[in-house]
Amino acid sequence: MKVKITEVGLRDGLQNEKFVLSTDVRLELAKRLAGAGVRRLELGAFVSPKWVPQMAGSADLVKAAVGAAEFRDVQISALVPNERGLDEALQVRAPRIAIFASATESFSLKNINCSIEESFTRYAAVVKRARRQKLSVRGYLSMCFGCAFEGEVKESVVIRLAARLIEMGCDEVSIGDTIGVADPKQVRRLGAKLLRELGPRRTTMHFHDTRGTALANILASLDLGITSFDSSIAGLGGCPYAPSATGNVATEDVVYMLERMGLKTDLNLDALIETNRWLQGKMKRELPSKVGRAGRAHPLGVVRSSDPS
Ligand code: HMG
Ligand code: MG
Repeated sequence: MKVKITEVGLRDGLQNEKFVLSTDVRLELAKRLAGAGVRRLELGAFVSPKWVPQMAGSADLVKAAVGAAEFRDVQISALVPNERGLDEALQVRAPRIAIFASATESFSLKNINCSIEESFTRYAAVVKRARRQKLSVRGYLSMCFGCAFEGEVKESVVIRLAARLIEMGCDEVSIGDTIGVADPKQVRRLGAKLLRELGPRRTTMHFHDTRGTALANILASLDLGITSFDSSIAGLGGCPYAPSATGNVATEDVVYMLERMGLKTDLNLDALIETNRWLQGKMKRELPSKVGRAGRAHPLGVVRSSDPS
């Protein structure tokens, strides 16, 4: 079984870091990720720089990557909140956009300054025009397992809104545990319903690892037959408009677990670990990925002389 990974570190990761990376360093990171086998790469966001200053320069980044040899096999995407964002995406020839809606009213207002219904009206026009221009569209749905402002979220609401994103023209929906509250039992319950509604090819899971349950949630999803996940190099990330949201599950940690389980991805773990080390230097801080810190396991039973006793 092959597992699809969408690398979102350059968007979801960097959007919540205080330390802002230059566009050149972001491009270098993107090239390293492509070199490590990343085939689905969210490069940035065409959102207001007043709202998310870290994403300024996304257009330059996408423009530099689209058509460059290093990204020949990479599906590049960027977040688009409205028609203005789509204009930018079209200008720099982004092949794929991602729209982002919320399962709760409070987060919709905090994040994109409009109600859920207003956002769906706005997105319907964006998706229609994007599809006409031959762009593919991913949909995100946030706060699917619990909301920072409203607490519990009804599964029926998540299912209904996810189905509407597909009807609108999205080819997949990324189901967000934006604040990292989900547990495996809840994932099994909601995941089974999502699979029935959307089917496995249209269902992606997007877990933040705020409370350490992301890998367990991925395992629960895999057991259901879900094989598409979002992750972030080094576990960078969060959402500036969701208090307490921390990083996405780290790409290295996911790939390590999948490899050990005999599941295939396109990604090269050693190259990811190397990218992690390079990125820590650029971010000037230790990043949360566990495998990034510990490295690849050596053969069981063999202890290297450098290991602590
Ligand atoms: P608004 O203030 O309601 O919009 O913001 P507006 O139309 O009144 O415009 C306000 C200003 O923004 C104007 O500039 C516009 O020109 C400008 P001014 O006249 O003040 O100089 N503007 C733009 N600039 C650049 N690009 C644009 C754009 N649109 C308007 N596309 C808006 C509405 C949606 C723009 C704003 O709320 C926004 O940018 N929000 C983005 C929030 C965001 O990026 N959040 C993080 C991503 S979501 C996430 O992380 C969750 C996810 O990972 C899944 C999960 O974990 O659950 C996806
Ligand atoms: Mg997210």
